Amino acid sequence: MVDVVLDVVKVFDDAGLTNPHVREYVAHWAEVTGASRVEVVSAADDARLVAESLEAGELLPVGAGRYYSRSYRKDTARAEERTIVATSDERDRGTYNNWKPAAEMKPKLVELMTGASAGKTMYVIPYLMAPAGSPLERFAAGVELTDNRNVVLQMIRMARVGVDSVNALGNDFVRAVHVTGDLENLGQGTPEDRRYFVTIADERTILHFGSSYGGNALLGKIAHGLRQGSYDGWKNGFLVEQFMLLGITDKQTGRKYHICGGFPSASGKTNLAMTLAPDALGDRYHVEFYGDDIAWIWVDDDGVLRGFNPENGVFGVAKDTNELTNPTAIDSITPNSGAIFTNVAYNGKTQEVWWEGRGPQPTDLDGWLDWTGQPIAERAAEQADDPWAHPNSRFTTQLGNVPNVAADWDDPRGVEIHGVIFGGRTRDREPLIRAITDLAEGVYDGLTLGAEATAAADGLEGVLRYDPMSMRPFMSYPEADYAQHWLDVIGAAKSQPIFAHVNWFQRGEDGRFLWPGYRENLRPLVWLMQLRNGEVAGVRTPVGILPARHELDLEGLDERTLADLDAVLAVDVPRWQQEMGHREQHLAQFEGLPEEIWAAHRRVAAALI
Ligand code: GDP
Ligand code: PGA
Ligand code: MN
Ligand code: MN
Repeated sequence: MVDVVLDVVKVFDDAGLTNPHVREYVAHWAEVTGASRVEVVSAADDARLVAESLEAGELLPVGAGRYYSRSYRKDTARAEERTIVATSDERDRGTYNNWKPAAEMKPKLVELMTGASAGKTMYVIPYLMAPAGSPLERFAAGVELTDNRNVVLQMIRMARVGVDSVNALGNDFVRAVHVTGDLENLGQGTPEDRRYFVTIADERTILHFGSSYGGNALLGKIAHGLRQGSYDGWKNGFLVEQFMLLGITDKQTGRKYHICGGFPSASGKTNLAMTLAPDALGDRYHVEFYGDDIAWIWVDDDGVLRGFNPENGVFGVAKDTNELTNPTAIDSITPNSGAIFTNVAYNGKTQEVWWEGRGPQPTDLDGWLDWTGQPIAERAAEQADDPWAHPNSRFTTQLGNVPNVAADWDDPRGVEIHGVIFGGRTRDREPLIRAITDLAEGVYDGLTLGAEATAAADGLEGVLRYDPMSMRPFMSYPEADYAQHWLDVIGAAKSQPIFAHVNWFQRGEDGRFLWPGYRENLRPLVWLMQLRNGEVAGVRTPVGILPARHELDLEGLDERTLADLDAVLAVDVPRWQQEMGHREQHLAQFEGLPEEIWAAHRRVAAALI
């Protein structure tokens, strides 16, 4: 044991890791997990680690400078029922955070992790989930320990990785331990499931055991950037949300607007932030990407509501990403971008990747393997209709590769927020856009976000459920406190953002989408900013202000979309009346919900009668 400790000290010295608290933490977990080597990594190690992964066969080449990886076939999405927020205060128990006492969970995880990295390297990943110099920086530093090299490569793309992030921060860093475990013997999804993904929020410690899939294993992003971050934000006066963030500049007036918003996982955040074409709508608007999955939001000393994206990369859903739906994404994953594709289909001979919706399915099956590694040509007849790529297959690429990334995306001051939107996959009821100008009604709308769950969470695809502010899988404290915190933080801003609920996913009776979505989603957002400025009046309805048909820029939309437009702009009152009963039950679960939220609910319900 003494030898191991001495070894570790040399590793720290060589890597310039001087923070004694970090050194002690790493040495402790190296001993618990039984790792045989410790290695401190920074972004500069990427090329070497990629070479090692290619050599080991953990990564396969996709031509030059792009890579392919597969995760274990039972490990392809977040596992919500195994994800727990633990603290030492029972009052932190919420409806969705699967709260457990820290004293119960910690020993369980220590037991599972003991000796579980034997023979492996433990990588030490110091990271920062904020632009350097941000007023929230002290909540953003962490050190992930992982025994999985692919997790290191993904973290280098998704976060700012390097020892400088933590050396100066004393004990103010998140301890984030990831141990992969023996994936073939963890009983995923059975009563004997041994996986646990635990955030001990009041100790700023994250312990994840039993997965190497990004959503469970990239602890900077998911567990710190969202769960730990929102808990810290609750205690320290800021908001942390599963939000995209984009900027729209009106070239005629020179005014710039920033809109952030939450849609449940795999419901369109990445596409919205990326794909709104710079040349859209007659080249009048310039659209910039800030973030696609997480926003940290606060009110600055001048009373301005501001936000930034804490991430350094994009972890995007591959399905349906192509030159028409999202040309920006395609341009972000070009050769030599360093992009990593996970669980798509791969051709071992031509080193190409493919996924459903990428383009025509290859007809020459030679060399093609589905996401599990099975040759397509050898598939049994009954597998003929199975997708080649997993529905939650992903690409990982750095923000620097995104062509429309904003020049100031890394500004520690963040950007002013003018609009907050909520949305999701809703096949009926929710119109294209309905604007809300009142803070309590906006928060109420976020809390009652109802949508279909997606393949980003195991076993839940298509299930209709409430997903407050799209934070259900990341909620770290009780929903009533969350609502109050929203009212407090946003209420303190001297200029209030406009809220809106959007839906790109209404379907016709034949099942097709009634709105073309993707790049066309700029149209309702432009209308929202015009409404905010008083340039359009909209149509008042019981559930918010909708665009009058003529207020939307319809130039260039096809005949079918124009024919469907009245349907996507309609409010189905009987259906909404029915919805209000469901909402009442949903909100009643949140004990101690602020009276303002109930009052907003009653106002909407009364307007619908
Ligand atoms: P995120 O996980 O919330 O970031 O969602 P993504 O932007 O990655 O999208 C998830 C899935 O929804 C992908 O398969 C997209 O192609 C699809 N999608 C995104 N935006 C739209 C849209 O406006 N219309 C339709 N029909 N599909 C969309
Ligand atoms: P998503 O991010 O929201 O882009 O799907 C990953 C996740 O939330 O699991
Ligand atoms: Mn997400
Ligand atoms: Mn996304």
